[in-house]
Amino acid sequence: MRETNQRIMPEYLNRYSTRSFQKKMPSREELLDILEAARFAPSCFNEQPWRFVIGWRGGRLHDTIFANLTEKNQTWNRNTPILLVLIANQRFAHNGKDNFWANFDLGTAWGFLQVQAQQLGIATHAMGGFRKAQLHHDLSLSEEELPVAVVAMGYYGDLSDLSAEWKERDVPNSRRVVAELILAE
Ligand SMILES: Cc1cc2nc3c(=O)[nH]c(=O)nc-3n(C[C@H](O)[C@H](O)[C@H](O)COP(=O)(O)O)c2cc1C
Repeated sequence: MRETNQRIMPEYLNRYSTRSFQKKMPSREELLDILEAARFAPSCFNEQPWRFVIGWRGGRLHDTIFANLTEKNQTWNRNTPILLVLIANQRFAHNGKDNFWANFDLGTAWGFLQVQAQQLGIATHAMGGFRKAQLHHDLSLSEEELPVAVVAMGYYGDLSDLSAEWKERDVPNSRRVVAELILAE
């Protein structure tokens, strides 16, 4: 169990990246609530460079995203209700220049959306383990649209559904203390 002596919202403390999801699909309305939270993230020049591709289990996009996960990530994602691709547009719309902060802003949007998901009882698990160039191609993304991460989403499931290897790893892990993170004050 994670613990804190500081006064933070429970969603921060209780969220963790499970690999076990219920079969039950989150509704489209719930997913729209989650993406709505991301919508209000701050971004450089209010550019909102985040874009999403949504794969619902049973659909073509889910198959495409799944096929591009690493083998290891595939072992626990076959029945994941939603596979969401997080994409950052690398170019500013207003002047066509490179947006150095695009991935930073996508990360903020991802932070907002995962906390909103947690508030709805929906788990999110980010993955960097996927074939970037192939997924970019298979989703017909434009040159400036970079798929940065894939996120597995669904209601927290029953750990007994996981293989022994994943079951023992499916616990909230620890964190550095804040004092370790402050380089100067
Ligand atoms: C950018 C990013 C990439 C990640 N890639 C993977 C991955 O490919 N496979 C996986 O099982 N977990 C992946 N994770 C999950 C992390 O291991 C996890 O978030 C971290 O250990 C902290 O645990 P917590 O999310 O449960 O708090 C990734 C997380 C992030 C944010």
